[in-house]
Amino acid sequence: MSKTLTIALSKGRILKETLPLLEKANIIPAEDISKSRKLIFDTNHENIKLVILRATDVPTYVGHGVADFGVAGKDVLMESNTSNIYELLDLEIAKCRLMTAGVVGAPATTGRLKVASKFTTTAKEYFAQQGIQADVIKLYGAMELAPIMGLADLIVDIVDTGNTLKANGLEARDLIADISTRLVVNKAAYKTKYDQIQPIMEMLQSAVEGERKS
Ligand code: ATP
Ligand code: PRP
Repeated sequence: MSKTLTIALSKGRILKETLPLLEKANIIPAEDISKSRKLIFDTNHENIKLVILRATDVPTYVGHGVADFGVAGKDVLMESNTSNIYELLDLEIAKCRLMTAGVVGAPATTGRLKVASKFTTTAKEYFAQQGIQADVIKLYGAMELAPIMGLADLIVDIVDTGNTLKANGLEARDLIADISTRLVVNKAAYKTKYDQIQPIMEMLQSAVEGERKS
């Protein structure tokens, strides 16, 4: 008898782009996720369930093995640095860049650099690699405000079109990483449920390739 497979999905932007890929891989929620307050959903497969999580919680659920698969942005995976998970596939959705940014034309900081970000671990690692001493301040949103209000010299944030930076008088500086959404799997589940995991992975890979060609 096949075991239950649980897939943890990031809600929000990523969820909207993940559901069409899952559908192409013939994994279809039993009800409309967007119209429900439920957090756990049955699918057209008796043994596949979907759970809808805050993006930053996906690596935790997969790392602890309570979800077998997870779908999360590379930014979130870099920041969580969770052991016990393998990155299986680039789903090539929610593409953006993780960058440093500062006030347009602002002179280079002379003293110790102050950086504001939601991605504090990644920011600390990045500046350490550059040999730059930086104090990193944790924020939970609206990072663009920090340099304007004088809380920080730079931010580390997601950039897509660049419109948010531009609207706030900021400019992108250095690229830290190209970001897209990844399929991750719990390491133990990858061994114990390989026969069930392998076909899903292949179907999703075909769905990604189909999207690339369309
Ligand atoms: P939370 O619910 O924790 O506040 P969030 O508001 O950052 O998360 P979303 O905006 O839905 O959630 O973004 C989730 C993911 O989508 C990010 O982790 C990143 O991988 C990607 N992403 C974020 N902003 C953009 C963007 N402007 N363009 C493309 N992808 C983005
Ligand atoms: C993300 C990110 C930037 C913006 C970048 O915010 O934090 O603010 O997108 O996109 P752009 O370069 O196309 O302007 P999001 O829209 O997810 O809002 P939130 O972080 O407040 O949820």
